[in-house]
Amino acid sequence: MDLFMCICVGIIPVISEAFTVHGPSALMFAHLGSSVVLPCYVDELLLMKDLRVEWRRTDSETLVHLYQDGESRPESQEQDYHDRANFFTDQIQHGNFSLRLDNLRAEDEGRYTCRVYSQQDSGETVVQIKHECLIVSGSDRAVSAHDGEDVTLNCSIDSHIKPEHIEEILWRKTDGDILVLFFQNNKTLPDSSDEQYRSRVELFPAEIPKGNFSLRLKSVRSEDKGVYMCQVFAGGLSANATLVLEKLETMTKYTKLIQFSYS
Ligand SMILES: *[C@@H]1O[C@H](CO)[C@@H](O)[C@H](O)[C@H]1NC(C)=O
Ligand SMILES: *[C@@H]1O[C@H](CO)[C@@H](O)[C@H](O)[C@H]1NC(C)=O
Ligand SMILES: *[C@@H]1O[C@H](CO)[C@@H](O)[C@H](O)[C@H]1NC(C)=O
Ligand SMILES: *[C@@H]1O[C@H](CO)[C@@H](O)[C@H](O)[C@H]1NC(C)=O
Ligand SMILES: *[C@@H]1O[C@H](CO)[C@@H](O)[C@H](O)[C@H]1NC(C)=O
Repeated sequence: MDLFMCICVGIIPVISEAFTVHGPSALMFAHLGSSVVLPCYVDELLLMKDLRVEWRRTDSETLVHLYQDGESRPESQEQDYHDRANFFTDQIQHGNFSLRLDNLRAEDEGRYTCRVYSQQDSGETVVQIKHECLIVSGSDRAVSAHDGEDVTLNCSIDSHIKPEHIEEILWRKTDGDILVLFFQNNKTLPDSSDEQYRSRVELFPAEIPKGNFSLRLKSVRSEDKGVYMCQVFAGGLSANATLVLEKLETMTKYTKLIQFSYS
């Protein structure tokens, strides 16, 4: 089982007053320790004079970043954000008040409001940072099958990332790096499967919305034996799980039985 810590900046509807302040239009993901840009911008040209932009945490009203009288005001910023929260100074004149937050921490989880005050008007947008994990689980124990049998290889996702945000699922046989099944944009692409698996593999469509991307492998053959990897891609993140398929030969079973009876 592999664990990926990530931060998800979720979409919160724009609360607009007189002029529209835009926030994120899509989900974004970022790893802990990395940087994220919290979007906030206006379409119209604002007069720079008397322009004031405030980024605050909504929960605590902590001041994350302030722009006033033509410059950033680090002295009024909460200590914790001092070196981590920055405007793109050259973008401000274009109405882009996006904030870059560096070295993301789990404690950054919360809602952030970007408030823009100008001589003409004021407006705000809210973005949310959520602490998420993308966890892909396979199976800890090896899966056994006899020749000709059908077998299910488990792969499931446990996260707040909704299955519709899953971009790709790659099922690969790691020894030989063979592409077993490719799922992209909500569809399985059967032609991309390696010839030896084509028409023998499928996902369970009814299970996909539950985050179950288990693989059905039909008519198991000896050469199917090996290590399989289920790789999941979502919002620039990837996580994987591996599992072992072992084929039980009739002879092996007898051998085992004999060993047991004499030990
Ligand atoms: C705002 O500026 C940042 C940094 O240059 C950029 O990544 C982002 O796309 C800009 N947003 C808009 C709406 O122009
Ligand atoms: C596959 O998942 C199901 C449901 O969680 C579980 O009952 C089963 O034991 C799993 N199989 C393996 C081989 O881990
Ligand atoms: C996924 O769905 C299949 C088919 O219903 C089921 O056999 C399997 O146990 C499920 N796996 C998990 C991990 O839930
Ligand atoms: C994905 O496919 C399922 C089943 O066909 C459908 O219900 C769902 O709306 C689709 N999701 C997206 C994001 O296209
Ligand atoms: C699978 O996950 C492990 C652990 O997170 C990572 O080190 C490895 O690079 C991943 N493999 C692939 C092929 O993505």
